[in-house]
Amino acid sequence: MSDTTVRTVAPADGKLGVLVVGLGAVASTFIAGVELSRRGLAKPTGSLTQLATIRLGKRTEGRAPLIKDFVPITPLEDIVFGAWDPVPDNAYQSCLHCGVLDKHEHVYPIKDFLEGITPMPAVFDQAYVKRLEGKNVKTGKTKRELAEALRQDIRDFKAKQGVARCVMVWCASTEIFIVAGPTHQTLEAFEAAMDANDPSIAPSMLYAYAALMEGVPFANGAPNLSCDIPALEKLALDKGVPIGGKDFKTGQTMLKTVLAPMFKARMLGVAGWYSTNILGNRDGEVLDDPESFKTKEESKLGVLEYILQPQLYPELYGEMYHKVRINYYPPRGDNKEGWDNIDIFGWCGYPMQIKVDFLCRDSILAAPLVLDLALFFDLAQRSGMSGVQEWLSFYFKSPQVAPGLYPEHDLFIQQTKLKNTLRWMMGEDMITHLGQEYYEDR
Ligand SMILES: NC(=O)c1ccc[n+]([C@@H]2O[C@H](COP(=O)([O-])OP(=O)(O)OC[C@H]3O[C@@H](n4cnc5c(N)ncnc54)[C@H](O)[C@@H]3O)[C@@H](O)[C@H]2O)c1
Repeated sequence: MSDTTVRTVAPADGKLGVLVVGLGAVASTFIAGVELSRRGLAKPTGSLTQLATIRLGKRTEGRAPLIKDFVPITPLEDIVFGAWDPVPDNAYQSCLHCGVLDKHEHVYPIKDFLEGITPMPAVFDQAYVKRLEGKNVKTGKTKRELAEALRQDIRDFKAKQGVARCVMVWCASTEIFIVAGPTHQTLEAFEAAMDANDPSIAPSMLYAYAALMEGVPFANGAPNLSCDIPALEKLALDKGVPIGGKDFKTGQTMLKTVLAPMFKARMLGVAGWYSTNILGNRDGEVLDDPESFKTKEESKLGVLEYILQPQLYPELYGEMYHKVRINYYPPRGDNKEGWDNIDIFGWCGYPMQIKVDFLCRDSILAAPLVLDLALFFDLAQRSGMSGVQEWLSFYFKSPQVAPGLYPEHDLFIQQTKLKNTLRWMMGEDMITHLGQEYYEDR
């Protein structure tokens, strides 16, 4: 069904404040990359908002504008950055510490700019990220007080920087595994739990709460619950604010969500899928703690279940053995190596193997996702969209969806959904790929 109503999308007037929680490898690489792009010193490779086109109308029409020319995306020049981190390093020090970008080519030339981004004191509690210690931390008697201090930070940032709008992206460490419980069901229960310093309220939830209360969209790049709880989903709808997560889909999981749909499309069986990673950055160190790893593991494991649907195809996928490991290995730094061994079977049950060895760079893959999420969440808000933004599942390992829905993990279905949402927003025809019209009246 075609819905070509033109929606009202407010223009991207004024500056956009991008508030990153965490100023580690991903966030500093993202900020530096945006500034390098603005100065023409590097290209924003990997970003749909900067590079991708979108086909409009029939294949015979030849209309394929850049996404950024089709929808009113905030230009890079209008972005202003803010950050929180318990580690007091500014963005320049963080770039040097993380060692992702070449310091001669990509860090020293923008030193002045990076030094200007100093993290605000964080809401941080070591109980939730065991392997980190932080000195640049807020104090308060209750979690509610800490959330209020974050709200004040947002208001001060807006006033000081003169920004018209803000978005918040969680680029901070993965917290310990928490299951949604009674304190997460309603706003009343959530606020009472903040007052009572209940351990079920993690710092990431306080940032999400503060963002929503200030009308700021919140995107969650890590697997911790944060805004993925009924109380905050409802608050997002009530306040008219977009939210979404969880966990940037960058390396191994991105590959999984391309390969697994291929096996299913061709009705090839999967006997086992063993995935292992070595990485040596601070994220790797945090994930070396079993409680943070558990949060990540849940996020990475769900993908195959949903894509392969063993309940529909028990003979092909019912016995599949799926294992994910992450090992902290300091010599590799941010350059992660992700191995996959996939045991598949075909005609008459004959076994075959596929080996994938992805020598990737974690933050280089994640940085463009932070940019796209910030710009698309801002666009969503200007288009009057609120609550969970499932159309941005494309960017997440463990997409947040409406209650009762299963998440769509297939990368290319997610891409179609994203682009169709942009067409829908601007009153263009959806693209269904049916194409019968090209063969009629011949
Ligand atoms: N790089 C990727 O490919 C990728 C993919 C998916 C998810 N992620 C997630 O993105 C997040 C960031 O990754 P990274 O490599 O930049 O890690 P990092 O360790 O380099 O940076 C995280 C930063 O968050 C800070 N932090 C921790 N708790 C905080 C809090 N409560 N408030 C503010 N700051 C806090 C830490 O001090 C640190 O500087 C991690 O959770 C990671 O799991 C990364």
